Amino acid sequence: MNKLSIKDLDLQGKRVFMRVDFNVPVKDGKVEDDTRIRAALPTIQYAVDQGAKVILASHLGRPKGKRVEKYSLKPVAQKLEELLKPQYAGEILRENQPASDPTITEVVFADECIGDEVEAKLAALYSDQVLLLENLRFHAEEEENDEQFAKELANLCDLYVNDAFGTAHRAHASTAGITKHVERAAAGLLMEKELEYLGRVRDNPEHPFVAILGGAKVSDKISVINALIERRVDKLLIGGAMAYTFFKAEGFTVGKSLVEDDKLDTAREIKQKAEAAGVELLLPTDHQVVDSYDPLHSRKTIPVEFTNAGLVGLDIGAETVTLFSNALKDAKTIIWNGPMGVFEEKGFDEGTIGIARAVAEAAKRGATVVVGGGDSVAAVTQAGVADQITHISTGGGATLEFLAGDELPGVAALNDKE
Ligand code: 3PG
Repeated sequence: MNKLSIKDLDLQGKRVFMRVDFNVPVKDGKVEDDTRIRAALPTIQYAVDQGAKVILASHLGRPKGKRVEKYSLKPVAQKLEELLKPQYAGEILRENQPASDPTITEVVFADECIGDEVEAKLAALYSDQVLLLENLRFHAEEEENDEQFAKELANLCDLYVNDAFGTAHRAHASTAGITKHVERAAAGLLMEKELEYLGRVRDNPEHPFVAILGGAKVSDKISVINALIERRVDKLLIGGAMAYTFFKAEGFTVGKSLVEDDKLDTAREIKQKAEAAGVELLLPTDHQVVDSYDPLHSRKTIPVEFTNAGLVGLDIGAETVTLFSNALKDAKTIIWNGPMGVFEEKGFDEGTIGIARAVAEAAKRGATVVVGGGDSVAAVTQAGVADQITHISTGGGATLEFLAGDELPGVAALNDKE
């Protein structure tokens, strides 16, 4: 990476504004999945160990520029503090640095992200505390990349560190604008790790290289599919509801399954492009369906070509899990993004869990396996194989844009290495 790293900065006694991606699911005031918070801990710990005063800032959800209580970062402050407690410290730091004595004991929460309260809390911050600011998106100026707002954020600090890979595809005040008003702007440890692994997959994959894509919509994945074909992925495995757009484009009956009718031509073009490039494109051969009139009692697995007008496809079947698993057998690089079915519904998570096990097996055989996207990441965790995956990406849209070859504004805005 040709960008400045947090490791290149002298942090002693400096106020560091650290943009993190704590956009995590929160329900009834509790964080439901702390993957993204854990992923940022090594950078936070590193900065504190180096003697920095750390100011953490993030968005949560899409409150559209207004204060909306359910999008408050307060529950995140609690979770962060819990994760930083002594009994967790060794475990969290294990991967990136030797367990040291825990040096952070408290997360101070500011009810705002700019203004007097923030400044007062920052001035009173002890060396064993970090400051977490309230949701940046409570101010419309954040998403507008407003110059004045960016300056106000920058006024809080000396140095800027971006560890929010998941938000690096947004050109907002805290990811882009702020960098013009600070002494130095560098990448955090998580940001570096993401760029290293995803960069390897995008620019220099060891072959055979297999991509597994799922999720509801072809439209979300067109750019990444085209980029993968252009970069000569060897096999492209497509599952999830997006497969139905391909089936319909080929003239199959898909019943009431989710289809993007305006993307049938796109699906045909992708198929032709893959064929012309010698990329093997695999689609499911069987799927789990329910009758749309009796969804609770009619679940069954059938070959895709047996689908009739009243059926809805909700997951890939066991035969497809085997087909896709076999396609991974000799793979040296695997990228997986997107679920194979309605993963959040019990019973329709089996296909996605099956793929999680298959990619973990491939990793055990020595393949580099990168998994991204909320449901795929949840599936490897649920299948108990997360620790076998080479790299779990914290990005959703950012991962896809990066793999598609787009420049990420949050990365571009950082200072180049000197
Ligand atoms: C994400 O979850 O993908 C990032 O946090 C960005 O969120 P956004 O799509 O609301 O900008």
